[in-house]
Amino acid sequence: MDANQQRSRYVPPHLRGGDDRHSDRGSDRGDDRRAPRAPRESLREPPATNSRWSAFEPSSRDNYRDDRFSRPNNSSSSYPREGGSGYPRSSGGYGAPRKNRLGFHGDMTPNARLEQELFGDCQSSGINFDSYDEIPVETSGEGVPPFVTTFNEAELGPEVCKNLELCRYTKPTPVQKYSIPIGLAGRDMMACAQTGSGKTGGFLFPTLASMLRNGPANIDEDAGNGRRRKIFPTALILAPTRELASQIYDEAKKFCYCTGVAPVVVYGGADVGSQLRNLERGCDMMVATPGRLVDLIERGRVSLAGIQFLILDEADRMLDMGFEPQIRRIVEQEDMPRERQTFMFSATFPREIQRLASDFLRDYIFLTVGRVGAASKDVKQTVVYVDQQDKERYLVRFLSEVHDGLILVFVETKRSADYLEDMLCHEGFPATSIHGDRSQREREEALQSFRSGRTPVLVATDVAARGLDISGVTQVINYDLPSNIDDYVHRIGRTGRVGNVGNALSMVNEKNRNIIRELHELLIENGQECPPWLGQMYQGSYGRGGGGSRGRGGRGGGGGSRFGARDYRKEGNSAPRSTGNDRGYSNDRGGYGGGSGYGGGGYGGGYGGNSSYRGGNDNSAW
Ligand SMILES: Nc1ncnc2c1ncn2[C@@H]1O[C@H](COP(=O)(O)OP(=O)(O)OP(=O)(O)O)[C@@H](O)[C@H]1O
Ligand SMILES: [Mg+2]
Repeated sequence: MDANQQRSRYVPPHLRGGDDRHSDRGSDRGDDRRAPRAPRESLREPPATNSRWSAFEPSSRDNYRDDRFSRPNNSSSSYPREGGSGYPRSSGGYGAPRKNRLGFHGDMTPNARLEQELFGDCQSSGINFDSYDEIPVETSGEGVPPFVTTFNEAELGPEVCKNLELCRYTKPTPVQKYSIPIGLAGRDMMACAQTGSGKTGGFLFPTLASMLRNGPANIDEDAGNGRRRKIFPTALILAPTRELASQIYDEAKKFCYCTGVAPVVVYGGADVGSQLRNLERGCDMMVATPGRLVDLIERGRVSLAGIQFLILDEADRMLDMGFEPQIRRIVEQEDMPRERQTFMFSATFPREIQRLASDFLRDYIFLTVGRVGAASKDVKQTVVYVDQQDKERYLVRFLSEVHDGLILVFVETKRSADYLEDMLCHEGFPATSIHGDRSQREREEALQSFRSGRTPVLVATDVAARGLDISGVTQVINYDLPSNIDDYVHRIGRTGRVGNVGNALSMVNEKNRNIIRELHELLIENGQECPPWLGQMYQGSYGRGGGGSRGRGGRGGGGGSRFGARDYRKEGNSAPRSTGNDRGYSNDRGGYGGGSGYGGGGYGGGYGGNSSYRGGNDNSAW
């Protein structure tokens, strides 16, 4: 059929031509694929009944991008492009930046404009926020200090408490109740808590409060530096993606307001010169993606000699194969002191990664809210069987019925993100996309456009799966399921946050056999509706020997108890990990790394088949 052929004639983004973006005409590619209202068969059946979408004309996706690029930069953007804006601090010229009476570099005087900018749009929590208190919390390790039930000045100091009031936080979430005293007691911790339950505060509060109590490390910032001064942060927070680093920085700015502690963010894809200028104004708390940090260390501009706090957010991701070498380099091969506190946070923590993480921790407390790797109960999960070739049609029909909220659609590859964005725009759904092949500016613009509701559909690869906190996301759609259950947990956790409810729809077919067993178990565990065919599918796959468990020490692991161990140290296998490359990640994690062929052979065409652990992920983080 002509229209369909036309639709499937994919043109990669790099051939689409930059100027094209400013025109709604076809480009020099010589086809009319992007001409407005191209004669393609609409996938909508029946035509949208949803008045929400009928306001939008079917159009080339560039129509949704055009004025975004020419629009004056909205000052309410939550993504500061230069990393340090909004936090006015004086520069010390070529000498050391001016320090305040605490020995830090931040401002301590109130500023009404900044206050409005930082706290003006703080959201209140959702209806299920109070039920967080019912989630069981477990700690392990020696000498766990008692938990707190309130934010109080004795622990956090008056400035931080004032800022929490400005944020309209009335009480700590469960992970915060425990992490604050653990951090203040000087202990290392590994903390697991469900998506959207305040882990960022969970590490920022004790870090900031301890910094305010103890002051900076005693470092002579001027020694031997000359013109190119080195920066000596006291706290280092590492995150896997630029957008997440930027978001953590935004949170840090709020909590640090008027405390005198100066946060700065550095990440790849953005101008290093302006990031350096921000650093030169003084940096006490550095939020960074690993790649850019290594770059700055290599340039001799950042020293880790003053680090007293090291935090890995999304720690299991930071320690998986993609990032581990850089983390090891930063933590073990530079000048970071061993005398420091290390915090690791995530919603998921596979046993093997826990074992690896212990290389970086000392006598740590393991804290888990709910079960390690559990999905948020506030997300209603639905699975539907959809054949690969029917997915587009299904998606369009489904979207036609979504009446409000922001919708996040996950796909497996960058290419399918581009394609789907294009298809949806043609169908009249204002969509944008985020993935590792888009420039940083495009990524930030896409997120901003999504946040603001201008394009309420965001098509994303896993680059947006972890940590992003976007209020108003009511629906996550797994157009392609991820290849492991932890990624599923993170993806659906983009909705149902801070006690709000959300929905997740997953399109399943034979291609997803490698995750079906765990998906089935997760749905049952969360009391979600579980269609009989799903169980049959996984039993089928199990019977054929491909659906073995991944042995993560929790669900399904090797025939053991389904909801068993949490802290891997309690499993009786905590013998020190042997060094070298013998971790056997994929075997231990997947149980399907042994070449059973699930998720790989036969399904790859056009979808970038993804049989190996992390193999098909969008890893373009920095
Ligand atoms: N004590 C609190 N009271 C009310 N809201 C809070 C509190 N702590 C955090 N929040 C809000 O909860 C939301 C989610 O927090 P956060 O992003 O830290 O979750 P998370 O546990 O890190 O999730 P993820 O696993 O997806 O990274 C944020 O909007 C944050 O402002
Ligand atoms: Mg987080």
